[in-house]
Amino acid sequence: MSTNIRVDLNRPDKDLDVGLRPTRFQDYVGQDKVKERLELAVKAATKRQDVLDHVLLFGPPGLGKTTMAFILAKEMGVNIKVTSGPVINKPGDLAGLLTSLEKGDILFIDEIHRLQKAVEEYLYAAMEDFMIDIMIDQGPNARSVRLDLKHFTLIGATTRSGLISAPLRSRFGIANRLDYYTHDDLKKIIERSARILNVDIDSAGAMEIASRSRGTARIANNLLRRVRDYAQIRADNVITKDAADKALEMLDIDKCGLDEMDKKIILTIIDKFSGGPVGLNSLAVSVSEESDTIEEVYEPYLIQEGYLNRTSKGRMVTELAYKRFGLNTPVRKGELL
Ligand SMILES: Nc1ncnc2c1ncn2[C@@H]1O[C@H](COP(=O)(O)OP(=O)(O)OP(=O)(O)O)[C@@H](O)[C@H]1O
Ligand SMILES: [Mg+2]
Repeated sequence: MSTNIRVDLNRPDKDLDVGLRPTRFQDYVGQDKVKERLELAVKAATKRQDVLDHVLLFGPPGLGKTTMAFILAKEMGVNIKVTSGPVINKPGDLAGLLTSLEKGDILFIDEIHRLQKAVEEYLYAAMEDFMIDIMIDQGPNARSVRLDLKHFTLIGATTRSGLISAPLRSRFGIANRLDYYTHDDLKKIIERSARILNVDIDSAGAMEIASRSRGTARIANNLLRRVRDYAQIRADNVITKDAADKALEMLDIDKCGLDEMDKKIILTIIDKFSGGPVGLNSLAVSVSEESDTIEEVYEPYLIQEGYLNRTSKGRMVTELAYKRFGLNTPVRKGELL
């Protein structure tokens, strides 16, 4: 059993994800820059009656990569086929998918950083020249035949952009990073979901959930659902600030939206490294997590919320981090006095 409730809360829930997933640009809250660029690309491609360029979407879990892939298909008016890096075992599996695509169709590969090397290399020619070699027959008659593919769009999604090889990355015409949502954006997402789920929520109630959702759309939706249960039984079916606060307290959801690993990172830097600076690798060893995961999944949120700074000498916690844990900020050499 996981002791980390927030990891559970960021686990995709198929029914909830599908039901609440916006299907058009206009319903996709926030990520304004990414949305603007993609909207422009869609409009331009549509106007030229062209196929959308290959798109890479990266960023931490639950921020809306899959959602955006489906929106792009809908806005382009094309079909989307969905697969994921670890399920494609050999180039042949990919060939089957690629040859089934019509002109303009989207192939969505989730967790694209987990593609096997041989499969990834096979993808290069498909992405670039829209052709693949397939093997037909076996034994002495085995030969390779070149097949032309229809011009398709590949959308790749990953939480770990650092693990994508340079050759693969360079074949995407459009690459965008999704960022953590602001509290205001999360509030809008919660209010939209509440309308769809037919839940009564006031503005302060939505803000309370938003500020405790770790900047993540999926967590916001999952918390909304849990708070709804509480409100139904204990708060006359209305989610107010008070109801949200009590429900989240009961669930042990941190006031500032930090999860277990966030806390571990901050406290380790304070306790073992006197607040930093500490190099990424030493930090990773101390908290028993991979350094890329710290860098790509945890750190961005801690930096955005002002708990951590990245300096040339390493990672340092801020005064806010000490305050958050009720600790006094130490006076560092060379400072004050
Ligand atoms: N911009 C948004 N506006 C409104 N709701 C959103 C937005 N982005 C995501 N969501 C909601 O959050 C849920 C999770 O998003 P999604 O599945 O697209 O995340 P993801 O980035 O693909 O995550 P993972 O890395 O775990 O696959 C969606 O079902 C949707 O309801
Ligand atoms: Mg996804």
